[in-house]
Amino acid sequence: MPGCDLIITGARVIDGNGGASRFVDVAIERERIADIGECAGWRADTVVDASGLALAPGFIDCHTHDDLAIFKTPDVAFKISQGVTTVIAGNCGISLAPLQPVGEMPPPFPLLGETREFRFPSVKNYREALTATPGAVNLALLAGHSSLRLASMPERLDQTADSDALAQMQQDLRLALQQGCIGMSTGLGYPPAEAASTEEVVQLAGVLSEFDSAVYVTHMRDEGDRVVEAVAETLEIGSRATVPVIISHHKCAGPANYGRSRQTLLMIDHARHERQPVSFDVYPYTASSTSLLPQFIRESVSVLVADSKPHPECNGQLLERIAASWQCSAEEACERLYPAAAIYFQMDDADLERIMAHPAAMIGSDGIASMETPHPRLWGTFPRVLGHYVREKKLFDLETAVHKMTALTAQRFGLENRGSIEIGNYADLVLFNPDEIIDRASFESPVSNLRSSPVTASSASGSTASWAGMTTPPAACATGSF
Ligand code: ZN
Ligand code: CU
Repeated sequence: MPGCDLIITGARVIDGNGGASRFVDVAIERERIADIGECAGWRADTVVDASGLALAPGFIDCHTHDDLAIFKTPDVAFKISQGVTTVIAGNCGISLAPLQPVGEMPPPFPLLGETREFRFPSVKNYREALTATPGAVNLALLAGHSSLRLASMPERLDQTADSDALAQMQQDLRLALQQGCIGMSTGLGYPPAEAASTEEVVQLAGVLSEFDSAVYVTHMRDEGDRVVEAVAETLEIGSRATVPVIISHHKCAGPANYGRSRQTLLMIDHARHERQPVSFDVYPYTASSTSLLPQFIRESVSVLVADSKPHPECNGQLLERIAASWQCSAEEACERLYPAAAIYFQMDDADLERIMAHPAAMIGSDGIASMETPHPRLWGTFPRVLGHYVREKKLFDLETAVHKMTALTAQRFGLENRGSIEIGNYADLVLFNPDEIIDRASFESPVSNLRSSPVTASSASGSTASWAGMTTPPAACATGSF
């Protein structure tokens, strides 16, 4: 009789590929899935009776800013408690590596952490540090376009790159990819990259096409009044550079733009069917969160101050109220509160549901761990999709939801041997109760109560994970423990 470390028996197994779930046993040996089906032929050190629970691949959070958080809070409770076992970091143009800090970091870099904590000039440095002190989740990194700009043209962020700066960025990006980055992200709606031309991004994205399965991931130039133009620009970049495109946290912000996801999704579908691979991520809330900047106020119904450095007493308060009590405009209050982060109520439920239900939609939290009063998506994203949108609203079935959190994401981002329950794959697994799972994080109380959380991340070994990068095999893989 062959031996294995662990058998999980009695669970409803949702393999991540989107098909119907099955009641089968799963055997785990070391960090890999050893067998699926009748596992009676195996002798296991531990047998877990998971009757009444669903067993799924560990969730992949494809949109995170956990670049630094993984070092500061290596237990990554805000992810593990949701069943997330892999995160993709370096989103929205800001990656902690490769990054050469300047005196005062422009927004949105402060969302990552304090300038003195930015100590990874190369992806190699970052990777070595993570391997030395791994966190409780696997991590794959995107190289941030704004980070590249900061190194090659720190004095000229308000301009598009000239040929020297562009050549420098291409070289830096190539090195980052050789050292394990899985793609490049942009944050074209943010100050350090707003001035970058489409051509600059096309030239950089061209470097991605030299690498197998490297992706172009974008926080687009506009998510409000000009969202349609921004989608068109994104598709143009992907098709001219011949790279797969992933639109970050897709939304149509501002009441004037409610309903426009019909048009953006049509454009995406057309591109997908006619010419190029396109997908997007989405979080299950109608409020966004980022740096507090006047340009984002205009597109919002209301704005909650989440983390002001000069005025921490204002955290958790509405910007309108603060401005009223200071007897100034919202824009001026914004300036006085800066550096600060905020939560912007600016989306429509129907758009959110339409976007989330689209077959190309993946679930990504966009949670920001550095915030004093974080957006509840940091702790609640995955249970909210499974509990609120699947069980309560029946927006799609459980298998589809799991697919959007696992295999689809692994395929789109080129993560090998993860995201599905298959023999030989890494045993990144999660057990949860589909009848009970629900998010507990709210705007008022955004840090959920771990002890009553219904999710358990599981694995064969208790070892922690490190790197899910594309170009080199990962050192260790399974995460969490019972
Ligand atoms: Zn973003
Ligand atoms: Cu983001």
